[in-house]
Amino acid sequence: MNYLIGIDLGGTNIVCGLLDAEGNVLRQAKRPTEADRGHEDIIRRIAGTAKELMSEQGIDSREVLAVGMGTPGRVNPEMGVSVSSANLGWKNVPVAALLREQLGRPVYIDNDVRMYVYGEAMKGAGAAYRYVLGVTVGTGIASAFVADGRLHYGRTFSAGEIGHVAMDGLTHRCNCGKTGCLETLVSAPGIARYARETIQSGRNSILQQAFPDLDKLTAAAVSWAYDQGDAVAIETMETVGEYLAKALAFNITVLGPEAVIVGGGAALAGERLLGPVKRRLEGLLPNVHREQVPIHTAKWNDEAGIIGSALFAKFSAGGESS
Ligand code: BGC
Repeated sequence: MNYLIGIDLGGTNIVCGLLDAEGNVLRQAKRPTEADRGHEDIIRRIAGTAKELMSEQGIDSREVLAVGMGTPGRVNPEMGVSVSSANLGWKNVPVAALLREQLGRPVYIDNDVRMYVYGEAMKGAGAAYRYVLGVTVGTGIASAFVADGRLHYGRTFSAGEIGHVAMDGLTHRCNCGKTGCLETLVSAPGIARYARETIQSGRNSILQQAFPDLDKLTAAAVSWAYDQGDAVAIETMETVGEYLAKALAFNITVLGPEAVIVGGGAALAGERLLGPVKRRLEGLLPNVHREQVPIHTAKWNDEAGIIGSALFAKFSAGGESS
């Protein structure tokens, strides 16, 4: 039982990893989620990828202690069920049982961001701290809090669903059905849409030449345009940063973390987004928190979710996580 499998199921990509018992990644593969193909297809493809990794490593599934998976939306980790996920279109999917049927090993699931932040808190940018607040910005946004190596879940396992708080000034409808959710702006699709709508309102941008079809514009392209000094891209990062800072200000004040870790696509935008976040936080945070809370980008980024879910599976299966 020297191995663990960790899976990070996101709205856009699935990262699947084979890890040793300490949570070091031995092999990994990244595949598109293609959420519209439905949960059965997704779970079958995940199991197929896990089997490929085991056979590449030359190991038998009986050598795998446990499988962990982070999945977006509300998850009941005790039942192994994805209760609802707007970004995947899932409702009451018994993910752990379905995956266990295919892999023949114990499977433990939890929210994707919780697993990501757990990975960073145990083995990444948060390893030196007792209280770690993490947030990832990708297809969606959520946060998670780890205190002394333990995740905080809250009522109905829903702590950290900050992406679905309605914010002043935001008017778009969210996948969850509400209007004005933080995630409609602070997410990869939200970043792309803000830039696109600013251009459509008549502003000039180098993104127009690069993307004659503005619907194809991506958050990564906004980072590229930012580096060329493009005013629309700069305004986009400032605005998204302002809203992310507002959300973080309350989280930091309530939870009192020693460090904040930002991951997902936002970590790839780096200082382009975190610069505005840090500047805004200066003015928002109570003095007592302002100087003490370093904001780090994730150490592992793509791998944080598989490390976190593998260690979580080990912990849930009865082994120590670190
Ligand atoms: C979901 C969260 C999820 C996040 C990132 C949000 O829309 O509500 O549960 O963790 O996206 O995938």
